[in-house]
Amino acid sequence: MNIEIIPMQRLGDERGALIALEENKNVPFTVRRVYYLFDTQEGVRRGLHAHKQLRQLVIPVRGSCRFILDDGRERIELVLGDPGTGLLLESMIWREMCDFSHDCVLMVLADQLYDEQDYIRDYDEFLRQAKLRHAAASGTINA
Ligand code: TYD
Repeated sequence: MNIEIIPMQRLGDERGALIALEENKNVPFTVRRVYYLFDTQEGVRRGLHAHKQLRQLVIPVRGSCRFILDDGRERIELVLGDPGTGLLLESMIWREMCDFSHDCVLMVLADQLYDEQDYIRDYDEFLRQAKLRHAAASGTINA
């Protein structure tokens, strides 16, 4: 699956921790947008979409949550809860987030401005487009 867990170097000293994010260094793209998810209510599922082109780096700056990730071929689950670890999501990854801790703050760095046209919010449509991409990548068809 086209995702990566990126360990961030912890700076700071005995007074406390610090992590620096630098574009095209530990953030592997030029950052055009930052947003954060917080105050997520108990039992809520967020995400439930994929992006056609967008690349994102997700950092749980506080608390934790579970990610369910799906590229149309496999589905994996992981818990993100270390502010020293980022999750890089390439395009065409269906994501759902659940089991948010009450204090969870997820910070997301993105390589494009917000564009609703880049979203795929229907899972069946995602599967259809993912199949086309996989076939094109393996040379099965010219899509
Ligand atoms: P949505 O993608 O549905 O969030 P979630 O991951 O919680 O399901 O986004 C919620 C709303 O915020 C939706 O109306 C789109 C809007 N939005 C922006 O205006 N700018 C942004 O950068 C993002 C991520 C969302």
